[in-house]
Amino acid sequence: MTHILHRQIHATLPVAVGGRGIELFDESGKAYIDASGGAAVSCLGHGHPDVVAALQAQAERLAYAHTSFFTNEPAERLADRLIAGAPQGISHAYFVSGGSEANEAALKMARQYFVEKGEPQRRAIIARRQSYHGNTLGTLATGGNEWRRAPFKPLLIDTHHIDPCYAYRHQEAGESETAYGLRAAQALEDKILELGPETVMAFVAEPVVGATAGAVPAVAGYFRRIREICDRYGVLLLLDEVMCGMGRTGTMHACEQDGVAPDLMTIAKGLGGGYQPIGAVLLGQHIFDAFANGSGLFQHGHTYICHPMACAAALSVQEVIERDGLLANVRAMGGYLRGRLEARFGNHAHVGDIRGRGLFLGVELVADRSTKEPFDPARKLHALVKKEAMARGLMVYPAGGTIDGARGDHVLLAPPFIIDEPAADAIVERLGEAVDAATA
Ligand SMILES: Cc1ncc(COP(=O)(O)O)c(C=O)c1O
Repeated sequence: MTHILHRQIHATLPVAVGGRGIELFDESGKAYIDASGGAAVSCLGHGHPDVVAALQAQAERLAYAHTSFFTNEPAERLADRLIAGAPQGISHAYFVSGGSEANEAALKMARQYFVEKGEPQRRAIIARRQSYHGNTLGTLATGGNEWRRAPFKPLLIDTHHIDPCYAYRHQEAGESETAYGLRAAQALEDKILELGPETVMAFVAEPVVGATAGAVPAVAGYFRRIREICDRYGVLLLLDEVMCGMGRTGTMHACEQDGVAPDLMTIAKGLGGGYQPIGAVLLGQHIFDAFANGSGLFQHGHTYICHPMACAAALSVQEVIERDGLLANVRAMGGYLRGRLEARFGNHAHVGDIRGRGLFLGVELVADRSTKEPFDPARKLHALVKKEAMARGLMVYPAGGTIDGARGDHVLLAPPFIIDEPAADAIVERLGEAVDAATA
């Protein structure tokens, strides 16, 4: 008997009672390798002593001070650190409690920017199908995840969606990667022209699509072309790096590998590594200036913005990542893990694609490799893989609807940045058994 409204009312969940390094433990003492960081959150693993000590010290010093009265030291220091390492043009940070809040705030920043600039007719948001930007009404409307949107459609603001850059499914036979990238990006210009450039406010995209499609990076050149199109029509580029950012792909920001800088960027999950709920919007100097030279404020706010405990945890997580050189480990172990996945699944009858960047990897499952035909959605293969993996002491993050919100299955891997080769071997061994059992 529980009084919690859980995600799945009829499921019985094990009780997590502890965590150490890459493992979580339930109350029976069973250990699970956390090969997905929950939902790409736990980048430092569990129970990291430096973060625990930082949290303890902050709790003793100051747990909370409302931002209409005070600023606080951990928030100021975290902002300094993030801006020092931010993409070109990014000048300020706005701290919230998670990814949805970050995207909601970023959308409002985009809108207020144009109001301040005397272009109040700009209100259209263009995003991509097969994306996820959060579960609040504004971010749900922005995301292109059909099954998540469906029950709430009557409540959602009008938004516009183009196809994602998803080479495994959309690149045509005989089409080069470059040609495909340009064709995929052209959909944005076509949509802007259809709506009228003077009405378009922002284009929103995940540089590497996470939960909805399973670690799908864009092909080379796609985001450069997207940036050009946004610049040409004065449309703000909002990159959602809530899942793929903060080192997950082997560079601090995923967009570094695409050679672009956004006007607005959102980060969360790996920012605090799960030690506290935290997200942030990183905004460009031009957006800050429009507010500073206009109304003098950002007309928004929540009770817990710039929370000292959340900022202290994130500051400590980010200091450890830098001190221990963990981005180099993400690149090295990302390459190793991918190699092991390719060795185990490269010829597997039901694995169509292995993809991703760094320690952000996706395996797309298919009924037939040659036709790329997915499994019957009624089979809920993704749920079966999760169950089989949990039985073997492995946490992965599978989902269905990979192709179009209804069809397709994938498994997402996002292990902590601290993994080593034996851990990667164990992940692949257990996942191999789980996929074999689920597809048998
Ligand atoms: C890309 C992306 N954006 C936004 C969100 C929403 O973040 P949160 O669940 O912290 O509200 C998520 C969560 O999975 C995400 O993956």
